[in-house]
Amino acid sequence: MFIVPSVKLNSGALVPAVGFGTWAGLSVQGREASIAWILTALKAGYRHIDTAQMYGTEHAVGEAIRQSGIPREQFFVTTKLPWNHPGRVKESLDESLKNAGLDYYDLYLIHWPQVLAYEEPKNEDGSTKLAVNPPSLSETWAEMESVLATGKVKNIGVSNFSIKTLEPILKTAKVVPAVNQVELHPYLAQNDLLAYCKDKGIAIAAYSSTGWAPVRNDPTMLAIASKYGVSPARIALAWHLSRGTIAVTASKNIERQKENKDLPTLASEDIQAINALDKGQRLCKGPGPEGKIVGWTLEQLGW
Ligand SMILES: NC(=O)c1ccc[n+]([C@@H]2O[C@H](COP(=O)([O-])OP(=O)(O)OC[C@H]3O[C@@H](n4cnc5c(N)ncnc54)[C@H](OP(=O)(O)O)[C@@H]3O)[C@@H](O)[C@H]2O)c1
Repeated sequence: MFIVPSVKLNSGALVPAVGFGTWAGLSVQGREASIAWILTALKAGYRHIDTAQMYGTEHAVGEAIRQSGIPREQFFVTTKLPWNHPGRVKESLDESLKNAGLDYYDLYLIHWPQVLAYEEPKNEDGSTKLAVNPPSLSETWAEMESVLATGKVKNIGVSNFSIKTLEPILKTAKVVPAVNQVELHPYLAQNDLLAYCKDKGIAIAAYSSTGWAPVRNDPTMLAIASKYGVSPARIALAWHLSRGTIAVTASKNIERQKENKDLPTLASEDIQAINALDKGQRLCKGPGPEGKIVGWTLEQLGW
């Protein structure tokens, strides 16, 4: 039987290397309905759960944990600071704890490096509205360090950060980020970021980790999947584990939930073949028509 390995964070904490994602779309009904499929995932054995205040599923995660009857301390739960909450990290974390009905989170991430206007993060045309004179990345990181000291979060980290946006944080950090959660799959291997984070002691967590339909239908992925007799999604997840990264994956389907935590060990020639698929292609969050992602150019993001 395959046992999901753990990744050790720079704090010493152990995280199950396959995490279960809880993005549930934008509708209130979809978010409420997520309690049922999060619960089946917990019953299937997932112990690392990924949510965010912006997903609106913190409540569903807390509720599913309670309904599972499994003690809270057996779970590693991650949530994220919304992009319009730098400057009010303490208050925002308290909201996230209240949403879930939890006493603490295991990992708290700055969701994005950009800062949006707090009261109204969108312009009239629907585009994102950046904050005027926002706190710097170092200032927000200092706020994260303050909430770490309260014990309401056990680890702190970042998400969607690049070498360029990590550097200012590391210049002033008292606590090195434990994790950087980024889009990462066989078409976006992020080799430079991986090497940089490894050198600094920052674990990488991959989101969109199966690479969606484009990666799952890639002829190389299909051929390797057929060799091992498993789905291409499981091959992608096994590839993350071979690189020592955490993979966050999601499925509403109980059979796929079970399959995705039962992974083959890939032979080195198969790992090499998957490594060769990298084309720096973003599938989840690409630039809009004006060439920006959440108000920033790719150059500003360091992507
Ligand atoms: N930090 C960030 O900015 C950020 C951004 C995006 C995502 N995330 C986190 O990462 C989580 C996962 O992201 P993701 O949903 O893009 O990852 P993903 O696991 O790569 O993609 C999920 C999709 O793949 C399908 N799928 C899963 N397992 C499958 C399998 N074995 N065979 C075929 N299809 C399969 C699912 O469909 P079914 O439900 O039908 O199985 C679902 O449509 C999110 O829920 C969220 O927690 C974070």
